[in-house]
Amino acid sequence: MSGADVIYQTEALIAEDIEAYLNLHQHKSMLRFITCGSVDDGKSTLIGRLLYDSKMIFEDQLAALENDSKKVGTQGGEIDFALLVDGLAAEREQGITIDVAYRFFSTEKRKFIVADCPGHEQYTRNMVTGASTADLAVILIDARKGVLTQTRRHSYLAHLIGIRHIVLAVNKMDLIGYDQAKYDAIVADYAAFAASIGIEAFTAMPISGFKGDNITAPSANTPWYSGPTLMGHLEAVDVNTAAEAAGVFRLPVQWVNRPNLDFRGFSGLISNGTVRKGDAVRVLPSGKTSTVTRIVTLDGDLEEAVAGQSVTLCLADEIDCSRGDVIAAADAPPQVADQFEANLVWMADEALVPGRAYWLKLASQTVSVTVSQPKCTINVNTLERLAAKTLELNAIGIAEITTDRAIVFEPYGESRTLGGFILIDKISNATVAAGMLSFSLRRAQNVHWQALDVSRAAHARLKGQSPAVLWFTGLSGSGKSTIANLVEKKLHALGKHTFLLDGDNVRHGLNKDLGFTEADRIENIRRVGEVAKLMTDAGLIVLTAFISPFRAERDMVRGLLADGEFFEVFVDTPLEEAERRDVKGLYKKARSGQLKNFTGIDSPYEAPENPEIRVDTMRETPEEAAERIVALIIGDWMPII
Ligand code: ADX
Repeated sequence: MSGADVIYQTEALIAEDIEAYLNLHQHKSMLRFITCGSVDDGKSTLIGRLLYDSKMIFEDQLAALENDSKKVGTQGGEIDFALLVDGLAAEREQGITIDVAYRFFSTEKRKFIVADCPGHEQYTRNMVTGASTADLAVILIDARKGVLTQTRRHSYLAHLIGIRHIVLAVNKMDLIGYDQAKYDAIVADYAAFAASIGIEAFTAMPISGFKGDNITAPSANTPWYSGPTLMGHLEAVDVNTAAEAAGVFRLPVQWVNRPNLDFRGFSGLISNGTVRKGDAVRVLPSGKTSTVTRIVTLDGDLEEAVAGQSVTLCLADEIDCSRGDVIAAADAPPQVADQFEANLVWMADEALVPGRAYWLKLASQTVSVTVSQPKCTINVNTLERLAAKTLELNAIGIAEITTDRAIVFEPYGESRTLGGFILIDKISNATVAAGMLSFSLRRAQNVHWQALDVSRAAHARLKGQSPAVLWFTGLSGSGKSTIANLVEKKLHALGKHTFLLDGDNVRHGLNKDLGFTEADRIENIRRVGEVAKLMTDAGLIVLTAFISPFRAERDMVRGLLADGEFFEVFVDTPLEEAERRDVKGLYKKARSGQLKNFTGIDSPYEAPENPEIRVDTMRETPEEAAERIVALIIGDWMPII
């Protein structure tokens, strides 16, 4: 039967009976792999060859198959789409294209999804996307050219992203006369490089995608080669012995299943190891233990389940466990921490802003996170480490990250699920980075929260008020300090315990080391936010008057406080007006170039979208505004206690 016949028959089978087709393929294991190499290396030809030599279907049918296989609840070695792909899929819905072509094909023995990623450096993020779900990478080399910069970059990325199986396909052997000595030299060259970046093993093979040598059958042109064919290797490579399946049991909880009072189960995909009925388990981060009473699936109860299966676990005890928690083997739980060193691959056009809060998604956990200035970036061509202040699009770097609460994790080398994460911009919702946790910082483990006897509520009660933060924001010279000062006077007169933190004043002391770059302003607001929070713990009503030009940081401070405690007061004075008043003469200096990074001139101001209070200083005097603010907050919320 020719390849074309196979295609025709497969398509007919799909058209006639999708169920039969799915049944045919459902019980085969799945291998996801990635091909790397530039166009010249013959990547397209090779993929075409693999598709042609197998029972192939086309891309658009893949999506339907993926959906259907989710509906029928496939089990076995099938790996779910990883977090990253979810994030990128969400982006794609918003119309941003990340061009990695996924192709599906299958043989008698196995099904395959191959991610065909572009090779150039400016597509690093695309390659990382494709690699994030792959079990194996085929690194293509043009036999005439040997190991190139691109070969090194792709190998480094594949290894970084945790691909454990590497195939070195020395292609175009026909063009070097199937010369064994040349082949051996290329393999030796690659072996030296691979060892230098920590790749422990790889499988090399001499092939010709164009002629078909060693693709599905051993080639008579390479009698000196006795290893597997490419397809034979792809069919046989054992991904089930991967650390995930062999490891210790972990289940990141996706949701709690409570259809009625008699049933409470914890659902998710087992990321590592095996669980059996009767096993002792521990829920992280709380550390509470219990025993597995049932393992429920769509196909009924099981005695045991392994990595890759979606299950619902019932436990013997009514312990707290919710989405984001991880159920693990009781005697070998994963770690819990809030400060880490991580590798980051930056994927957004907008560079990393150190100190800014992003969302971090890891397994089913979502937390707020800040990233420090990178320790270094890595030149993916030379693998040199370079000093850097930020990470630009496609950059790879190492940085410390701090989450706002402790998360359950494992180093990426041990678990891609519990060590791999994505970062999401809080405003645009775009996926901006993929990351891999290396280890937690020891200082995080050794600093504990000290429980204090005089509580926050006790402080507030004694003062007879509810603590709050009135966060004034607006351009320089908009009237923040003036109005905040009047509001404080009025509250004070009403017997309230207040404190006003003012930009110019705080910059004389606590923040005298900070200037007006984006990074310094972010740090300025972070510190002021933390101080304001401490003051509310002491029971105070805190007023702050800072330009605080960035939405992300104002939202970050909002996130530090309880619902209803944070009042954003937008002192809305148009730039022209603030400049006309120019109380401190700073606009004049900025316009004449004597003052750089001045808000509104050559540094941005992001106006609040939904402030609790907006003051239009063109219509209201400071006195009127202060009256209104006091009335509003007192009426709204003051006499609570
Ligand atoms: S913020 O942007 O970091 O929130 P902050 O409110 O602390 O700024 O400080 C702003 C005050 O610093 C202004 O009112 C002004 O008096 C002074 N200032 C000095 N240089 C600048 C500048 N480049 N941009 C804005 N304000 C400046």
